[in-house]
Amino acid sequence: MDTLLGRRIVVGITGSIAAYKSAELVRTLTQEGADVRVAMTRASQRFIGDITLQALTGHPVATDASAEGTSGMEHIDLARWADVIVIAPATADFLARLAHGRADDLLAALCLATEAPLVVAPAMNHAMWQNPATRYNLTLLRGRGIRVSGPASGEQACGEIGPGRMCAPEQITEDLAGIFATRRLAGQRVVITAGPTWEPIDPVRMLTNRSSGKMGFALARAARDAGAEVWLISGPTHLAPPDRVHFHPVVTTEEMKGAVEGCLPADIFIGAAAVSDYRPAEPQREKIKKHDERMMLALIRNPDIVAEVARTKPRPFTVGFAAETSDLVSQARRKLLEKGLDLIIANQVGVPGIGFDADDNEAVLVEQDREKPLSRMSKDQLARRIIDEITERAPSAPVTPV
Ligand SMILES: Cc1cc2nc3c(=O)[nH]c(=O)nc-3n(C[C@H](O)[C@H](O)[C@H](O)COP(=O)(O)O)c2cc1C
Repeated sequence: MDTLLGRRIVVGITGSIAAYKSAELVRTLTQEGADVRVAMTRASQRFIGDITLQALTGHPVATDASAEGTSGMEHIDLARWADVIVIAPATADFLARLAHGRADDLLAALCLATEAPLVVAPAMNHAMWQNPATRYNLTLLRGRGIRVSGPASGEQACGEIGPGRMCAPEQITEDLAGIFATRRLAGQRVVITAGPTWEPIDPVRMLTNRSSGKMGFALARAARDAGAEVWLISGPTHLAPPDRVHFHPVVTTEEMKGAVEGCLPADIFIGAAAVSDYRPAEPQREKIKKHDERMMLALIRNPDIVAEVARTKPRPFTVGFAAETSDLVSQARRKLLEKGLDLIIANQVGVPGIGFDADDNEAVLVEQDREKPLSRMSKDQLARRIIDEITERAPSAPVTPV
């Protein structure tokens, strides 16, 4: 199995007798080529020593105490770093805290702060597992997309028999691999544009728009996590380039077009950039001085990058974005047909909390004959959903060897 190779996995350990099995889990994941870090609750340290986990991973273990000795941002750093977080063993108490969004220690805060998929491997006495409070917490967690690995049934540490044993480390490893294996873009070349473009009027002014680039960057991370080789071509943003993605910063639409052409052919193209439709016809070399009450700025049409990509041969599976203020679906479908796209992601703009610069978004996937609404979620979650939807539709055989 090489699905875990290079994956960044945080193993969270909580205070159960099964914590001794975490050492074996960490070892198995490391042997699979994963890059593993461990975070422990205070209670778990009574069951297994952090020195064991430090030796197995080659990295210091994150605990409430270690957080005090660092920048204080350890939970955020790990939350961003992780491709997946697995809590094994997960106590009844931790599941309750997770279900209710508590952030009262480093591990809980880490789980609340992450955008990465979360997996829990419960371990507890069978009566605790079957208690309606635990069942209800599990329902809440599953409803939020948190995966549950196990538990197994059998003889328990207390001598009783029933469900609640933490499942075997090999089983948890397989479940983790399944998260990445279901992503089917391995070997595919994906080109994504993001952010705004800047069209100079003179050396100090420009024509631009309110795109932050967050959606395009999230798509690049999601496509990368799905196994694709990703090229991200972005106009100016404040965002850090994602790891393990080929990053091409550009400024103008013409530059973006050139960079896109340089990255083709591709299997999938996603035009998430908010490209300026027009640019000043004659950008001035010198700063324009104020004279008259009114001034006219002549504009010319910019190339329509996504429409041009849709006409290239071999043609990638081509996805566009449409930000609309009214008639969302009909406007998006008109663009889909005019530009010859396979799929268009339509966003309503002007709604507080979503769209430009927000961390959340909601969208409608529009095709020729159907549409599918995706309700409000974080841009990272939405990006993963969009990549899943594209994966279902795009031809699976790569047109270009990577
Ligand atoms: C010896 C002993 C064993 C325990 N085993 C478990 C267990 O297997 N599962 C569980 O949910 N809680 C178990 N507990 C209770 C938890 O350790 C307790 O709820 C603790 O507060 C959990 O903290 P944490 O979730 O922050 O690690 C055990 C407690 C003790 C003293």
